[in-house]
Amino acid sequence: MSDIKPDYKLSLEDTRLSKRWVSWVLFIGILALFLIVPLASLTSDDAATTLRNSPLPSDNAWISGHLSKAHQIPDLNQNCQACHVNAFEVVQDNSCLSCHDDASHHFDTSVHDVTKLDGARCASCHIEHDEPSSIVRRDDKLCSSCHADMATNGVVDTDLVDVDSFGKEQVREGAMPHPQFKVSMLVPQGNADATTWAMGRFSLADKPTEKSNLIFPHDVHLNPEGLDAPQGNKVLACNDCHTTDDAGELMRPITMENNCRTCHTLVFDPDAPEREVPHGEPDTVLLTLEEYYSRQFLRDSLGRKPTPQEVRDFILRRPGGAVASRAEQALNLASPWGKANSVAQEIFEKTTCKTCHEVSVDNSGQHLSKWRVDPIRITEQWMPKSEFDHFSHRTSDCSLCHAASTSEQSSDVLMPNLDVCEACHTGETTHENKTPSSCVSCHQFHQPEQASWGKALEFGSAAEIIKQINLAGANEVSTAVSKP
Ligand code: HEC
Ligand code: HEC
Ligand code: HEC
Ligand code: HEC
Ligand code: HEC
Ligand code: HEC
Ligand code: HEC
Ligand code: HEC
Ligand code: HEC
Ligand code: HEC
Repeated sequence: MSDIKPDYKLSLEDTRLSKRWVSWVLFIGILALFLIVPLASLTSDDAATTLRNSPLPSDNAWISGHLSKAHQIPDLNQNCQACHVNAFEVVQDNSCLSCHDDASHHFDTSVHDVTKLDGARCASCHIEHDEPSSIVRRDDKLCSSCHADMATNGVVDTDLVDVDSFGKEQVREGAMPHPQFKVSMLVPQGNADATTWAMGRFSLADKPTEKSNLIFPHDVHLNPEGLDAPQGNKVLACNDCHTTDDAGELMRPITMENNCRTCHTLVFDPDAPEREVPHGEPDTVLLTLEEYYSRQFLRDSLGRKPTPQEVRDFILRRPGGAVASRAEQALNLASPWGKANSVAQEIFEKTTCKTCHEVSVDNSGQHLSKWRVDPIRITEQWMPKSEFDHFSHRTSDCSLCHAASTSEQSSDVLMPNLDVCEACHTGETTHENKTPSSCVSCHQFHQPEQASWGKALEFGSAAEIIKQINLAGANEVSTAVSKP
C-alpha cells in the first residue's frame, strides 16, 4: 500500500465542514429565519405588516396548509392574528365571532342543559388549513353522535324521533332509519273575531288535514279542458299561481289580487259591471255598498224634495244595529241602506265572498256589518326543520311531489313523504345513480331562531359529547361527502 493520499475528498469528514457543523448552521439559520424573524410579527401590527411586505419570512411561514376557500380574503390570508390572537394558544371562539356574530345555537340551551353543546369550540367542527376539504364538517357522525339515541345522550325533553341514517340502501343493522316527515301547520282556535293560530306538527303517516279557512279546489282549476275565464277559455298550469321566491327556494304566497281576481271579480251590480267592492274587511265592503246606493238614491231623487217616508228611512236604521221591526224592514228595502244590506246578504251568504270564504253571522251589533269572514292563514313553510329548494328540483314535474291535480279540497295536505325523496336521495355514501346526501345537505346546524352562540358561551362548560365529536372529527372529515 502506498502512503500517497488521494487529493480528492470522499466524505464530509475529510473536509473541514463536519456534518454536525453543517447541521448546526442550517438549524440555526432556519430557526432564525422561520421562527425568530417571524416572531417579530407578534410584537406589533406594524412589525407584522412590514415583515409580510418584505422578502423575509413573516408569520405566514408557519401556515400548516391553505386557508379554506371561503377565508381566502385579504383580511385573513395576510392576517394570521385575525384567528390566532395569542401565540401558542388554540384559536378562540371570540376570533370567529368577531366576524360571524350571527352564528346561532343548534337548540335552546336553556331547555337542553344536559348536552351542553356550548362547550364546543367553533374549531371542533370547522377545520382550517385543510383545503381542499370543506371548512364545514358534513359527515353524518357529527349529527348521529346525539341524534341516534337522544335519551341516552341526555336529551330527554324532546318530541324528536331518533335518527342516524337516510336512504333505504344504507340502513345498517340496528340503525335508526330516518322517520317519516312531519309537517308544520297553523291550527285555528276560537271564533272568527278572536282567532288564535297555534303551530302544530303532524306526521304525514297520519294523513293530516289542513284548515286555512280558504275554499279552493285544485282539481276544478286544473281541468285539462280549461276554464271559463273572462278572457275566454283558459287552461291553468301550476306556475299561473305558484312562482318561486327570488332565491328559488319556496313558493311566493298566494293572494286574491295576484292569483284569483282576473277571473273572480267582486262585481255586485250586474248593471254596473265596472264597479267592484273592495277585497277586505266586511265593514268596508258594507260601507262601499251604502255609499254606492246612497248616491244612486240621491241621484234618483235629485231635483225634488224627498218624501217624509224617504227621510224616515234615512234616519231609521243603521245596518248591524238593533233589529228592525217587520214594518221597518219593509220600509228599509226601499232605502239605500236597505238595498245595501240585501246586496251584502247576497254576496256574503250566497255568491261572491262565499265562494272562497267561510262566512259567519254575528248579531252582537259590535260591528257595522253582521257578516264576519273567517281569517285566512295559508301555510307558507311546511317543513321548517329542513332545507328544501325548488330550484334544485326544477327539472322534475311538480306532480312527482305534489298530487295537486286530483285534490278536491284545500284541506288536503299535498306534501311529499319520505318515500318520494328516497327514490332519488340516499345517505352519505354514493349508491348506484342516486344522489348522496349527508344530514347537512337537508338540515342546518345553526338554527337562526336560536340564541347567538357567543351569548350561550358565557355559562358553558365542556361536555362529554363534544369530546366525542372532536375525536370523531379529524379522519372522518376528508371522507365525508361534500356539497354538490
Ligand atoms: C380563519 C381563521 C384562521 C386564520 C386566518 C389562520 N388560522 Fe391557523 N388555524 C386556525 C384553526 C381553526 C386551526 C386549528 C387549531 C385549533 O383547533 O385551534 C389553526 C391551526 C393552525 C396551525 C397548527 C396548530 C394546531 O394547533 O394545529 C398553524 C401552524 C397555523 N394555524 C398557522 C397559521 C398561520 C401562519 C396563519 C396566517 C397565515 C394562520 N394560521 C391563519 C384558524 C386560522
Ligand atoms: C376577518 C373576518 C373573519 C374571521 C375572523 C373568520 N371568518 Fe369565517 N368567513 C368570513 C367571510 C368573509 C366568509 C365568507 C362569506 C360568508 O360565507 O359569510 C367566511 C365564511 C365562513 C364559513 C362558511 C364557509 C362556507 O363554505 O359557506 C364558515 C363555516 C366560517 N367562515 C367559519 C369560521 C370560523 C370557525 C372562524 C374562526 C376560526 C372564522 N370563520 C373566522 C370572515 C371571517
Ligand atoms: C358541533 C359542530 C359545530 C360547532 C361547534 C359550530 N358549528 Fe358552525 N356549522 C356546523 C355545521 C354542520 C354547519 C353546516 C350546516 C349549516 O349550514 O348550518 C355549520 C355552518 C356554519 C357557518 C356557515 C353557514 C351559516 O350558518 O351561515 C358559519 C359561518 C359557522 N358555522 C360558524 C360557526 C362559528 C362562528 C362557530 C363557533 C361560535 C361554530 N360555527 C360552531 C357545525 C358547527
Ligand atoms: C350535542 C348534541 C346534538 C348534535 C351534535 C346535533 N344535534 Fe340536532 N338537536 C339536538 C337537540 C338537543 C335538539 C333540540 C330538540 C328539541 O328541542 O326538542 C336538536 C334538534 C334538531 C332538529 C330539529 C330542529 C328544530 O327546529 O326543532 C334537527 C332537524 C336536528 N337537530 C338535526 C341535526 C343535524 C343535521 C345535526 C348535525 C349537523 C345535529 N342535529 C347535531 C342535539 C344535537
Ligand atoms: C288557480 C291557482 C292555483 C293553481 C293553478 C295551482 N294552485 Fe296550488 N294552491 C293554490 C292555493 C290558493 C293554495 C292554498 C290552498 C290552501 O288554503 O291550503 C295552493 C296550495 C298548494 C300547495 C300547498 C298546500 C298543501 O296542502 O300541500 C301545493 C303543494 C300546491 N298548491 C301545488 C300545486 C301544483 C303542483 C299545481 C299544478 C299541478 C298547483 N298547485 C296549481 C292555488 C293554485
Ligand atoms: C322533489 C319534490 C318537489 C318538487 C318536484 C316540487 N316540490 Fe313543491 N314542495 C316540496 C317540498 C319538500 C315542499 C315543502 C318545503 C318547505 O316548506 O320547506 C314544497 C312546498 C311547496 C308549496 C308550498 C309553499 C312552499 O313553498 O312551502 C307549493 C305551493 C309548492 N311546493 C308547489 C310546487 C310547484 C308548483 C312545483 C312545480 C313547479 C313543485 N312544488 C315542485 C317538494 C317538491
Ligand atoms: C282562469 C280563471 C280562474 C282563476 C285564475 C281562478 N278561478 Fe276559481 N273558478 C274559475 C271558474 C271558471 C270556476 C267555476 C268552475 C266550475 O264550476 O266548473 C271557479 C270556481 C272556483 C271555486 C268554486 C269551486 C266549486 O267547487 O265550484 C272556488 C272556491 C274558487 N274558484 C276559488 C279560486 C281561488 C281561491 C282562486 C285564486 C287562488 C281562483 N279560484 C282562481 C276560474 C278561475
Ligand atoms: C276567488 C276567491 C276569493 C273571493 C271571491 C274573495 N276572497 Fe277574500 N281572500 C281570498 C284569498 C286567497 C285571501 C288570502 C290572501 C289575500 O289576502 O289575498 C283572502 C283574504 C281575505 C281577507 C283577509 C283575511 C285574513 O285573515 O287576512 C278578508 C277580510 C277577505 N278576504 C274578505 C273578502 C270579502 C269580504 C270578499 C267578498 C267581497 C272576499 N274576500 C272575496 C280569496 C277570495
Ligand atoms: C334528503 C333530505 C334529508 C336528509 C338527507 C336527512 N333529512 Fe332529516 N328530515 C328531512 C325532512 C324533509 C324532514 C321533515 C322536516 C320538518 O319536519 O320540518 C326531516 C326531519 C328530521 C328530523 C325531525 C324529526 C321529527 O321527529 O320531527 C330530524 C331530527 C332529522 N330529520 C335528522 C336527520 C339526520 C340526523 C340526518 C342524517 C342521518 C337526516 N335528518 C337526513 C330531510 C332529510
Ligand atoms: C327526481 C329525483 C329527486 C327527488 C324525487 C328528490 N330529489 Fe332532492 N335532489 C335531486 C338532485 C339530482 C339534486 C342535486 C341538484 C343539484 O346538484 O343542483 C337534489 C338536491 C337536493 C337538495 C340540495 C342538496 C345540497 O346539498 O345542496 C336538497 C336539500 C334536496 N334535494 C332535498 C330533497 C327532498 C327533501 C326531497 C323529497 C321531498 C327530494 N330532494 C326529492 C334529486 C331529487
